[in-house]
Amino acid sequence: MTETPSALPAGVLAGRSALVTGSSRGIGADTVRYFAEAGADVVINFRNKAPRAEKLAAQLRELGAQALVVGADLTDKDAVAEMMDAVQRAYGGLDILVLNASGGMEAGMAEDYALSLNRDAQVTVLRAALPILRDGARVVFVTSHQAHFIRTTPTMPEYEPVALSKRAGEDALRDLIPELESRGVGFVVVSGDMIEGTITATLLERANPGAIASRRESAGRLYNVAEFAAEVARAAVDPVPPDHTRLVGDTGSFAGE
Ligand SMILES: NC(=O)c1ccc[n+]([C@@H]2O[C@H](COP(=O)([O-])OP(=O)(O)OC[C@H]3O[C@@H](n4cnc5c(N)ncnc54)[C@H](OP(=O)(O)O)[C@@H]3O)[C@@H](O)[C@H]2O)c1
Repeated sequence: MTETPSALPAGVLAGRSALVTGSSRGIGADTVRYFAEAGADVVINFRNKAPRAEKLAAQLRELGAQALVVGADLTDKDAVAEMMDAVQRAYGGLDILVLNASGGMEAGMAEDYALSLNRDAQVTVLRAALPILRDGARVVFVTSHQAHFIRTTPTMPEYEPVALSKRAGEDALRDLIPELESRGVGFVVVSGDMIEGTITATLLERANPGAIASRRESAGRLYNVAEFAAEVARAAVDPVPPDHTRLVGDTGSFAGE
């Protein structure tokens, strides 16, 4: 977890509850910390890294926040349903759902794992959350420019299956906007360039030496984890943009959508 100033005004989320998928580490962990600092009761979700999730929860409880830790592989529908039951029991409902967890570059996974996690599981999580989302709730889907713009701007071959699966997930979620709006739920996609210091960026750099420096040069600068997480946290609070999209940082080298 990176130490930075708060992303949100103190107390702005008092009495609200927020679940961030994949919040044991990386961008998700910093996002959940910003919510807790703003007064929210939070849910930390992880797949494997229970000790990290528990350590983060202990830190957030020291801030005075309530923090529920739920291990659930999002590709497991029963585990997702149990997670939502646990949230309902703990907090009585949900005001913010951040769909942050992502994957597909892990070794030893089934061939369709990227699509299963980045598209199907995102819809599963949102559908499972719908009954407990309160009026005025906000859903935020986190993605990368490399995925958001994949139809018009090619990316590195190692990342292409992930990018295509994440864009398919974004499209499947966007299809649900009318239903969400009829329920009083706002939906925002937050897209960012490669983020310095993440495992994904490190893996891509290993496969393509110089990739990060080259993106930094094209974009002017790259965001770090804490900075990007702050944008994700603000997307949960700021008015929903008319196109439901919050592009973070320079997009000059990405064409169209
Ligand atoms: N990294 C970048 O450069 C970059 C750039 C732009 C946008 N983004 C977006 O930001 C988001 C977070 O990226 P990140 O780099 O912070 O990710 P990360 O470090 O790889 O963290 C992924 C998180 O997702 C969890 N997770 C993975 N598979 C899961 C599953 N099947 N079920 C439940 N949880 C699962 C992990 O939990 P465990 O650790 O317990 O497995 C971890 O908490 C992603 O949506 C990504 O596309 C990233």
